[in-house]
Amino acid sequence: MEVERVQGIANFSTETIPEEFIRSTNEQPGLTTVQGTVLEVPVIDLSDPDEKKMLEAIIDASRNWGIFQVVNHGIPDEVIRKLQEAGKVFFELPQEEKELYAKPPGSQSIEGYGTKLQKELQGKKAWVDHLFHKIWPPREINYQFWPKNPPSYREANEEYTKHMHGVVDKLFRCLSVGLGLEGHELKEAVGGENLVYLLKINYYPPCPRPDLALGVPSHTDMSSLTILVPNDVQGLQANRDGHWYDVKYIPNALVIHIGDQVEIASNGMYRSVLHRTTVNKEQTRISWPVFLEPPSDLEVGPHPKLVNEANPPKYKTKKYREYCYCKLNKIPQ
Ligand code: OGA
Ligand code: NI
Repeated sequence: MEVERVQGIANFSTETIPEEFIRSTNEQPGLTTVQGTVLEVPVIDLSDPDEKKMLEAIIDASRNWGIFQVVNHGIPDEVIRKLQEAGKVFFELPQEEKELYAKPPGSQSIEGYGTKLQKELQGKKAWVDHLFHKIWPPREINYQFWPKNPPSYREANEEYTKHMHGVVDKLFRCLSVGLGLEGHELKEAVGGENLVYLLKINYYPPCPRPDLALGVPSHTDMSSLTILVPNDVQGLQANRDGHWYDVKYIPNALVIHIGDQVEIASNGMYRSVLHRTTVNKEQTRISWPVFLEPPSDLEVGPHPKLVNEANPPKYKTKKYREYCYCKLNKIPQ
């Protein structure tokens, strides 16, 4: 059976969209986005010579927003540009060629090209296609899901991965110190050197009714942290105190999300951010989140040094695999 991709649906949708993409009024971006925003997701300079100020900004943003952008992060602009170009070229290939990388039916792993087939609880569909594959550590990589076309795809992804490690370590160190732990302890709690980097490319084709549809609906990421590069089309929104705010596009910035596993390990000191994406009438939006995931057999729970009689654990300790299973099947944790 041929699988329907949103990219294909977008090609023949000029004025209207199929009913299953129309959100209920409490989700429609046209009705639920705060207009004339004054509040903005914090932007943090990772090379600020005032390190104390930078540290405090990261801690504050992680406690109060669960999302922030970083600039001067050390990943060269050219490396980001090549990652973006390679992914864009892949999604512009003829459909048959993309289908060579389709997630195998029945596969337990998330890797591969696809479209979320399962409708959501209210029976709605998301206006987005995706490609998932791991990029780190090398022993976890399945190259069958890495596009061979364009030929630059592999090198572009490897270069980006190589440059990510410095940012990952810096973020974890700051967050760890912010909890009163040793610099290395938070990263260790979520997998340390065995942390798995899972890349996703989201491809959001133009949508004739961006006021009615959503790209990715409201969710928090299951990962420890997520590091995201967008293209220049606005679309990411973060929720704070029940309101949806646009995350302003800043060229070459990285968007950092606190994920569920850091919320859990910090025993709720840091909050994973509720976020969603809107789509655009004329332009294609593309984003490249990398989910930093604990190994599936690792048990993650509130860090032992952060719990005592006065501060009991607020979350269960469980294997990451089990956490994901419950979340994906909407079973209480
Ligand atoms: C996601 C996500 C945001 C974006 O894929 O989990 O939140 O900007 N994407 O595409
Ligand atoms: Ni997300």
